[in-house]
Amino acid sequence: MLVSVIGVGHVGLVTAACMADLGHDVVGFDVDGQKIELLRTGAVPFVEAGLAELVEAGVRAGRLEFTADVAEAVRAAEVVFICVGTPRRPDGAPNMSFVQSAAATVASHAQRPAVVAEKSTVPVQTGERIRQALRLQSQARGGGLVHDVVSNPEFLREGTAVADTLRPDRIVVGADSERGHAVMRALYAPLLARHDCPYVATDVRTAELIKHASNAFLATKISFINAVARICELAGANVHTIADAMGYDARIGRAFLNAGVGYGGSCFPKDVEAFIHIAQELGYDFGMLRETDRINREAKAWPVAQLRRLVWNLADKQIAVLGIAFKPGTDDVRDAPALDVIDALLAEGATVRLHDPVALDHVRERYPDAVFCDKAEDALRGAHAVVVCTEWDEYRAITPQRLAELLTYPVVVDARAVWDARALADAGLSVAVVGQPPLSPAGT
Ligand code: UGA
Repeated sequence: MLVSVIGVGHVGLVTAACMADLGHDVVGFDVDGQKIELLRTGAVPFVEAGLAELVEAGVRAGRLEFTADVAEAVRAAEVVFICVGTPRRPDGAPNMSFVQSAAATVASHAQRPAVVAEKSTVPVQTGERIRQALRLQSQARGGGLVHDVVSNPEFLREGTAVADTLRPDRIVVGADSERGHAVMRALYAPLLARHDCPYVATDVRTAELIKHASNAFLATKISFINAVARICELAGANVHTIADAMGYDARIGRAFLNAGVGYGGSCFPKDVEAFIHIAQELGYDFGMLRETDRINREAKAWPVAQLRRLVWNLADKQIAVLGIAFKPGTDDVRDAPALDVIDALLAEGATVRLHDPVALDHVRERYPDAVFCDKAEDALRGAHAVVVCTEWDEYRAITPQRLAELLTYPVVVDARAVWDARALADAGLSVAVVGQPPLSPAGT
């Protein structure tokens, strides 16, 4: 099938490459001409396992092209995926203007009735708005084509996006027309032939809500365990063992019960706020999600509160921050909790010594006065304390003895539980590990 993807950011590029892998002919469009040039050379502008290989294979097979000419991209398409950004506005609602212009663009240039598929995460009832935008623009152009609108949310995680797309837990398609459903079934037939998974066919509004409900639920699971972590720190218990034990119950499950420094990234923080907002607009106060969001803010403030407790004044202290990316396996720093931690440290007058194996380049401009360290040991050497914000495997390999040697003050705030608290204390370090009671070396 002829597929066009409008917006080749993280979701769009993965969608385009995976659709080509399924045997469709795909054209990816983006307003960012530089990005298109880069993609044409076979380079992928962000870290995502397996994506560069997939893009290269698609381009080589002649099934994947990139263009900065939107008319060319949508002219002949049978399915147009809208994968543009929905940045959050100050009131928490997503800015939908890129989605509207993408829809208008399709209506301006399409030369056949297309199925327009929402991939961007959007509030419920956006489908109707897209349909309206398509209709108005088609009328402005002199009428004629009637396009179908479907909602086809993605559930891919950064870092495992390709695998999540090609071997999904489920495919969700919301359509209000038979044609919409038929075209999407045909689109996914090659995937379902390779990989058996539930195919949820529903209406557009329900599909839109499935996405918000899924992300909001996962975010709530994380906030729940972060709240339990606070209680563990106060009561003298271990949240990680609690999560393991809870996880053995199949009704609960262990996934997304890792207490940490709060959820970040381009999805959960924005989607939780957007869901609260759309619920409000519809007349429902989603108080539980407001609490999810509040607990998340508290989790992001936890490391600096611990540093204050353990070091006292942070002004003029050197603090090593290990891990900037919002999670391991990606160089994405959008809404990364580490940024909140660094901002708070700088506001208190500390000097930050930053390390991340892949994300440092994304924060060089934001933190001109930070010390950027290519190796974790360089960040630790001479620091008064260390705080871990991303659980990269390489940090687990640093021994407590090595930490004690490198740090000026023996203070560790481990907001991702990469180290064993007892072993740290035994090596003479004062320790705050998330979800465990604070420990000090014997005799202090
Ligand atoms: C998330 C969802 O997991 C995907 O299913 C969804 O498709 C995607 O958003 C999206 O809407 O596009 P992603 O943002 O890539 O994917 O990252 P996650 O792996 O979900 O992690 C989100 C944040 O939660 C990270 O900061 C991570 O460190 C944190 N987290 C996750 C925890 O603090 N504890 C956990 O147990 C799990």
